[in-house]
Amino acid sequence: MTDRWDTVLGYLIAAAPRDGVVAIDGPPAEAELLAERLRARCGATVVTGPVGDADLTVRVRTSRGDGRDDHAGAVVDLGDATWPILRHLDPALVPGDRWYASESQAFFAVRAAGWDSKFGDDLPAYDLAVSSAGLRAGGLALDVGCGTGRALPPLREAVGPAGTVIGLDHTAPMLSAAARRAAACAAALVRADARRLPFPDGTADAVLAAGLVTHLPDHDEALTELARVTRSGGRLILFHPTGRATLAARHGRTLDPGDLLDEPVLRAALSRTGWELLTYDDPPHRFHAVAVRI
Ligand SMILES: C[S@@+](CC[C@H](N)C(=O)[O-])C[C@H]1O[C@@H](n2cnc3c(N)ncnc32)[C@H](O)[C@@H]1O
Repeated sequence: MTDRWDTVLGYLIAAAPRDGVVAIDGPPAEAELLAERLRARCGATVVTGPVGDADLTVRVRTSRGDGRDDHAGAVVDLGDATWPILRHLDPALVPGDRWYASESQAFFAVRAAGWDSKFGDDLPAYDLAVSSAGLRAGGLALDVGCGTGRALPPLREAVGPAGTVIGLDHTAPMLSAAARRAAACAAALVRADARRLPFPDGTADAVLAAGLVTHLPDHDEALTELARVTRSGGRLILFHPTGRATLAARHGRTLDPGDLLDEPVLRAALSRTGWELLTYDDPPHRFHAVAVRI
């Protein structure tokens, strides 16, 4: 059994009520695999399939787009059975989000090396996302959750040679993959958690978060932390090189109107956390929202 399995089973055991019923729901082969491993390790009764009155339902997701995650206490990605990843754990079952950092890093670490070849065509969209956001020359621009650094060259272009560009990510292999691109545009790279940024209050002129905020467990906490480090009048660019509807369809899901990036939801979340939404654009080929720090 790999460390990954140990880690994921450990989180599920912490969430499973002693002597309760745990239902593992999802594609039968993967659900049975998880059930078998959980049975061997925990006192709860572990069954497969949907069970209405289970104490804990664990939904298994695979790469086949078969994962409906609604109402599950936990979601486990078994797209690669040698690299299980916990994708969701209801905070009512295990308070806090201790699980989140290890699981997010495990998810992105194995994707880092292939990221640019898989998504290389998106680079012009990053250029436009930054160039259209009204950043001023000479400032500090942060790319939070920078991944392989695809936004670093346009951020350098926007702030010019007198500005400073910093890419930040918590997944070490992503930063390794970003190193060459960062060096080429004189950007610094920092390994840190987006929820606890290692920068003083009000120092950034612009923050770009591409494909980041929806991954974080507490959206208000994340937007508040981005606001903390941004000066009054500074910009926040929320970006994804695919529109919300296109992305949902790609993952076999429908759009959730309560989703953070839905326009009214986002506008309200931004205004609660120190921002005002300036522009919002969500056609099939991109998601792009710009906010100003109040
Ligand atoms: C979907 S990828 C996007 C990467 C890059 N922004 C892009 O557009 O290509 C999300 C990135 O956010 C990083 N990330 C997720 N949670 C984070 C956190 N709490 N702190 C820092 N980075 C985080 C991941 O490691 C990953 O590199």
